[in-house]
Amino acid sequence: MSKLVRKAVFPAGGLGTRFLPATKVIPKEMLALVDKPIIQYGVEEAIASGIEHIIIVTGRGKGAMEDHFDHSFELDATLERRGKDELLAVSRGVATLARISYVRQKEPLGLGHAVLCAKEFVGDEPFAVILPDDVIDAEVPCLKQMMDVFNERGGSVLATQTVEGPAISAYGVLAGVQDPNDKRIYECTGMVEKPKFADAPSKQAIIGRYVLTPRIFELLEQTEPGAGGEIQLTDGIRALLKEEKVFGYTFEGKRFDAGDKFGMLQATVEFALKRPDLGPQFREYLKGLPL
Ligand code: G1P
Repeated sequence: MSKLVRKAVFPAGGLGTRFLPATKVIPKEMLALVDKPIIQYGVEEAIASGIEHIIIVTGRGKGAMEDHFDHSFELDATLERRGKDELLAVSRGVATLARISYVRQKEPLGLGHAVLCAKEFVGDEPFAVILPDDVIDAEVPCLKQMMDVFNERGGSVLATQTVEGPAISAYGVLAGVQDPNDKRIYECTGMVEKPKFADAPSKQAIIGRYVLTPRIFELLEQTEPGAGGEIQLTDGIRALLKEEKVFGYTFEGKRFDAGDKFGMLQATVEFALKRPDLGPQFREYLKGLPL
């Protein structure tokens, strides 16, 4: 079994109902954050972290993602003929960004089931999971930070962040013991998917980045439907915890929930402000608004 994390699974089969009507035809992963589909941020993060092979778990009506990460001959030929070299490089760059395989999740049975759909592609080696809705802005890519923890500690690693108040109920929540030598690391003792506020074991919410050992696949095969009647990844990891060490890791960086309207607006403003070509003009515009 390879001990290196070389593959990343992107569950992208969800319906995106939070963004209707925009997502009636367009996969939510293809909604643009400034000028890039949100899934491309995750793919770029994976590649920058050293991932070699990406597995996107898709579903019905999600074909636009496959077209996006492929060559577009008509577009490229037109750009070439018109001498638009920079745009041609952008278009070709997306098609050559990564080695990507696709697998269909035929029924919407939950996140745990989506990850299980990638089993044949991953095989018997540790792997990453990236939830494309969670866009993370970080100096060192979030997944790279987690792969470093995995290589050092040898157990599965889940990204976490502190969430105050009842909002914690929207997440998987960790119970764990903070490492006295590294306050970013928690050794997990339990976890629960979308608990009631009163039942949440901590303020440590699981964010959509995971490094997992392949044992999770066998455990997910045995996982019964949980919160929302779905096969939950959190429940599979709780079973893994009984056999192997699992760590929570408070990553350095800022996470945006781009699967949510308000989160998408926040991300749009912050990413646009950071762009050298748009930032200065956009800042001036915002300053001029009667807020
Ligand atoms: C999923 C996971 C949850 C995690 C969250 C992070 O939930 O099931 O444990 O906290 O992603 O974004 P979802 O947001 O898909 O309902």
